[in-house]
Amino acid sequence: MPKTKTKGSKKIAVLTSGGDSPGMNAAIRAVTRKAIYNGFEVVGIQRGYQGLLERDFIEFGPRSVSDTIQRGGTILRTARSEEFKTEAGQKKAADICRKQGIDAVVVIGGDGSYRGALALAHEGIEVMGIPGTIDLDIACTDYTIGFDTAVNTALEAIDKIRDTSSSHERCSIVEVMGRNAGYIALWCGVASGAEDILLPEKYDYDEQEIINHIIESRKIGKTFHLIINAEGIGHSTSMARRIEAATGMETRATILGYMQRGGSPTCKDRYYASIMGAMAADLLAEGRSNRVIGYHNGEFTDFDIDEALAMEKKIPEYQYEIARALSI
Ligand code: ADP
Ligand code: F6P
Repeated sequence: MPKTKTKGSKKIAVLTSGGDSPGMNAAIRAVTRKAIYNGFEVVGIQRGYQGLLERDFIEFGPRSVSDTIQRGGTILRTARSEEFKTEAGQKKAADICRKQGIDAVVVIGGDGSYRGALALAHEGIEVMGIPGTIDLDIACTDYTIGFDTAVNTALEAIDKIRDTSSSHERCSIVEVMGRNAGYIALWCGVASGAEDILLPEKYDYDEQEIINHIIESRKIGKTFHLIINAEGIGHSTSMARRIEAATGMETRATILGYMQRGGSPTCKDRYYASIMGAMAADLLAEGRSNRVIGYHNGEFTDFDIDEALAMEKKIPEYQYEIARALSI
C-alpha cells in the first residue's frame, strides 16, 4: 500500500476521553501505526484531557500498541476533566501541546470529548475526532466504537434474565446504559423481543400504559413480561415495586451497569476502530484537520468538527414503532 503523502513531518498525540468503550485500543493502535507509517512521530497522552494538563505523555512506537487490539478498556486510560472545561484549562493545554511540539491531537471519545477537541482547535491546536462511546449518541455518525460490543454484552445478560423470568412467570425490568440516549435500549429491546422498550427520547412517564399492557398481554396468553428501560429514565427498582402492586405480577429489576462497557471488542468494533483510526492519521497526513471521522450512509467519511457538533440525532421512528408490533 502506498504511503499517504505527508505534508512535512508532524508530531501527533492520541488520547481517549470520557467513558471508555471496547474498541478504543484498536483505534489507538490504528492511529499510531498509520501515523508512523505516514512518517509522523506519535505520543500517547494518558488519562484524557486531565493527563494532557498534567503532561502525562508516553512516546509511542509501533510496538507500543502490540497485543492490544483484542483488549477492552483503553491502554491510555481515560478521565473526565473539570479543569479542561475552563478557558484557562484549554489555554494551558494548548500551551503544553506547543511546548511539547505536538501539532495535532487525535481525540477518541464521545460528544463531550468532541466539545473539548473543538475548544482545543479554537486555541490553535489541530484536532481530529474518532467516535468512541457505547452510547451511539454522536449525531454525525451512524456508528460509534464500542456500541456493538456493549449491546451484545447486554443482550447476553438479558437473554439469561429472560430464561428465569419465563420460568417464574415474572415481569423483568432490565436497565441498560446510554446516558440520555436510548440507542442501547432500542437495539437490546428489539433483539431480545421485549414487550416494552422505554427510551428517554420517547417515554412520557405514563406508567399506567405499561401496567395496562402487562394486563392485556396476560389475557392473550403471555406468561412473562420483559421491559427494557434506559438509564436516562432510570428508577427501575421503584418502577418494579409499583408495577407489581398494580398488576399482581411478581416484578424484578436488574440494572446491568458497567459490565456493558467492558470486555473484548467484537469484530465489528475492532474493524470500525481500525478503519477510523487509520483515516484520522491519513487526513492529518493530507494536511487536513479539525475533522471528525464518521460512518454515514454506508461509507466511512469525515465532517468538519463544528458542523458535526451542530447536527442532531433522533431515534428512528419506524424502528421504534415496529418494536411494539413485534411483541404482540
Ligand atoms: P464523553 O466524551 O464520553 O461524552 P464527557 O461528556 O464526560 O464524556 O466528556 C469528557 C471530557 O471532555 C470532560 O471531562 C471534559 O474534560 C471534556 N469536555 C466535555 N464537554 C466539554 C465542553 N463543553 N468544553 C470543553 N471540554 C469539554
Ligand atoms: O458514556 C458512556 C457511559 O457509560 C454512559 O452510558 C453512562 O451514562 C456514563 O458513561 C457513566 O459514566 P461514569 O463512568 O462516569 O459513571
